[in-house]
Amino acid sequence: MASSLISDSAAWKALEDHIPAINQAHLRDLLADEGRSASLIKELNGTVLDLSRQRVTKETMDLLLNLAKEANVKEKITKMFAGERINKTENRAVLHVALRAPKDEVITCDGQNTVPAVHEVLDKIKAFSEKVRTGEWVGATGKPLTDVVCIGIGGSFLGPLFVHTALQTEPKCAEAAGKRQLRFLSNVDPIDVALALDGLEPETTLVVIVSKTFTTAETMLNAKTVRSWIIASLGKDAVAKHMVAVSTNLKLVSEFGIDTANAFAFWDWVGGRFSVCSAVGVAPLALQYGFENVEKFLQGAWDVDKHFRDASLESNIPVLLGLIGVWNATFLGYPSRAILPYCQSLSKLAPHIQQVSMESNGKGVTIEGVRTPYPTGQIDFGEPGTNGQHSFYQLIHQGRVIPCDFIGIIKSQHSVHLKGEMVSNHDELMCNFFAQADALAYGKTKEQLLAEGVPEALVSHKTFTGNRPSLSILLPTLTPYTVGQLLAMYEHQVAVQGFVWGINSFDQWGVELGKVLALKVRKEVSLARNQGTKVTAFNYSTNFLLNQYLKEKEE
Ligand code: F6P
Repeated sequence: MASSLISDSAAWKALEDHIPAINQAHLRDLLADEGRSASLIKELNGTVLDLSRQRVTKETMDLLLNLAKEANVKEKITKMFAGERINKTENRAVLHVALRAPKDEVITCDGQNTVPAVHEVLDKIKAFSEKVRTGEWVGATGKPLTDVVCIGIGGSFLGPLFVHTALQTEPKCAEAAGKRQLRFLSNVDPIDVALALDGLEPETTLVVIVSKTFTTAETMLNAKTVRSWIIASLGKDAVAKHMVAVSTNLKLVSEFGIDTANAFAFWDWVGGRFSVCSAVGVAPLALQYGFENVEKFLQGAWDVDKHFRDASLESNIPVLLGLIGVWNATFLGYPSRAILPYCQSLSKLAPHIQQVSMESNGKGVTIEGVRTPYPTGQIDFGEPGTNGQHSFYQLIHQGRVIPCDFIGIIKSQHSVHLKGEMVSNHDELMCNFFAQADALAYGKTKEQLLAEGVPEALVSHKTFTGNRPSLSILLPTLTPYTVGQLLAMYEHQVAVQGFVWGINSFDQWGVELGKVLALKVRKEVSLARNQGTKVTAFNYSTNFLLNQYLKEKEE
């Protein structure tokens, strides 16, 4: 590509020129073409992706694939798997795929195969988690450690929470967990500390401090707070038995007072939000569900990784997902995306993907530092169906156009079919999954309403324009394996979007400014509290709000 801006390319312009044609097509008509629909349905190891309800034709897909070629998506994928330092602003490789690679795979970084080191840590977690689960590793008073509290935030929290929530109701995982508890402490809010520790006894609790940097303010304060909870009850020596860590910074782990023999490492080539397959997720999940279940989760992700690495652009599911994301967010101008799993166990999918997607692609400049003249990133949000239907779907049906990801499960983790009911509870849920996608696509016309006898005055209120895009992902079951698949599909979609937009999806400078300002506020709050003075260091509003806040004396 001659220009550093993808938007200057002929492939980009061809897509812009194609928009009017798409604006004239209604999904109602597009869906009448069965050949088109069939060509937009893909399958990978039993998981189905249906893109037929996207506002695309064969020409759109061809043009998007041309754009992918123009943006060197295939080459960028290859570079990622080759351990090249594609995260240029941090001078790091991006190798979360190595975290789920089998032992015999070779994935190099700086000429070194990363896979043996990955498996060394996995083996260490396996041994440790088995010791804890079997009661061979006991707490300071000799009692088994039945409860685990993970302290971490952002990528050191959301991924593990998502997977834990997905697995806790899966029968085999639930059986493996037994009465064990896995809790998370993320927010520095003291209320979160109270909630996380509520009902737990220090003598049966294992604390896992999860922080890539081991410097994140919230995590370190929470870690110190929980350490004092343990020491107050069991004494200083108990820390070695009751606290372990996951980090890339073993020096700081050791300075915190944790024996590095009880620390699980990962590497700077794992971005925080892509770290759930590292010790960040593997350690807590293995403690809760046993290592074998975690292996299946890694396998699911790896199978998608291989497909992403090897499949042609045309048949590559994450590539197609990424291109559709770019088409919707940039060309059709839909800034948001709703993630709507029809499965309660996936209730933490949207919060996790929110970070993966928005922290990765919420950028304003290209990887070369040139301001992007086109919108990048998307606003992701979501809730499980059918709950969302009774909340924000009104807006999606008749207000703004928000492309939706519907995620459904063929066989539920639990089955209930009440006597006398037409369908099982899961069928009832899934009927909504199927209906919503068509309701958005087809809408309801004035003519249909009049034919139904709807009074004239209500017709415009009851009209649905339709033509609202969605995609459907249908998983056979929700198991560790399919959760791994789902995770990797979204992770790679985000990477593809970034590759096309020409941005660096793997840094996160945008979170820095707020952190730095909080340091300054902290200094002023401490000063004002200690000396009883008023805050004057900021603008009128901030000074006013801070002084209001400081009127309340600490207990
Ligand atoms: O919010 C910024 C961020 O750096 C995330 O990218 C990261 O996942 C999170 O903070 C936590 O960082 P750490 O794992 O280093 O504590």
